[in-house]
Amino acid sequence: MSGILAGKTILVTGIITDASIAFHTARVAQEQGATVIITGIPERLRLIDRIAKRLPQETPPAIGLDVTDEDSLGALADSVRELAPNGVDGVVHSIAFAPKTLMGPDALPFLDGPGPDVAKSFEISAWSYAALARAVLPVMNEGGSIVGMDFDPRTALPDYNWMGVAKAALESVNRYVAREVGEAKRIRSNLVAAGPIKTLAAKAISGTATDDAKKLTMLNEYWDGASPIGWNVDDPGVVGTSVCAVLSDFLPGTTGSIIYVDGGASHNTWFPENFLQ
Ligand SMILES: NC(=O)c1ccc[n+]([C@@H]2O[C@H](COP(=O)([O-])OP(=O)(O)OC[C@H]3O[C@@H](n4cnc5c(N)ncnc54)[C@H](O)[C@@H]3O)[C@@H](O)[C@H]2O)c1
Repeated sequence: MSGILAGKTILVTGIITDASIAFHTARVAQEQGATVIITGIPERLRLIDRIAKRLPQETPPAIGLDVTDEDSLGALADSVRELAPNGVDGVVHSIAFAPKTLMGPDALPFLDGPGPDVAKSFEISAWSYAALARAVLPVMNEGGSIVGMDFDPRTALPDYNWMGVAKAALESVNRYVAREVGEAKRIRSNLVAAGPIKTLAAKAISGTATDDAKKLTMLNEYWDGASPIGWNVDDPGVVGTSVCAVLSDFLPGTTGSIIYVDGGASHNTWFPENFLQ
């Protein structure tokens, strides 16, 4: 099969629905010739296997992985080896979580965010990037690529709160992971900073279905307006395609870096058309 990932085996974490950024990364990776293996949270494996059947090519059953469970992380390399005896060339970390006290309709004000809940969101959304890199390093091939998912945390955003702080931490974690995996096996580590996409995780930010639809529409309008090339929250393929580019051999000199896939919105100060009138 031809394509920019032909001959490569890619491990994708983070599929929970067919809107997940991870799902569209796996889809494009298969379309680009990769063999894809996936992980999923252990309590939802049957659902994830069903979702994975919607991918264009055959995908092995999901390997259970809970990044908060050391045993689960410790067992990952052996499970991957069984499915991919020749090792993996790329790994996608598409995992984030924040307790309800920090995000959504019942979220507390930022200043009241409870320490243990902030620590949980940091563990799953930032620390786990390094934990996953450690877990997969034994089965990763020389010159591979690890990619994580970022949401530009350089400014304070309404509703994003402590998840923004976790993403700022993730950006730093990525730079340190890049040092060690690069030295160990010439593996690159990068983040893709995506614009907003309508997924389960995005819904958790705003809460109820009505609020959700309203806030996502507002965010979409803002993002689309701020982007010189336009943005669509209903098009996760843009992000999945870009993650595959970073997994490929076509960014051979990029590591410890952030690739912005947000329509350019975060690099463009946007005002409504009638702003100065
Ligand atoms: N949707 C957006 O607007 C957007 C924008 C930029 C970045 N991102 C990032 O993309 C990534 C994927 O999110 P998504 O939007 O596709 O949502 P999603 O809800 O489809 O994916 C989040 C995934 O995290 C997994 N997860 C949560 N806790 C876990 C744990 N303990 N162990 C293993 N997996 C766990 C969930 O099972 C789920 O598959 C996240 O890092 C998110 O912050 C999302």
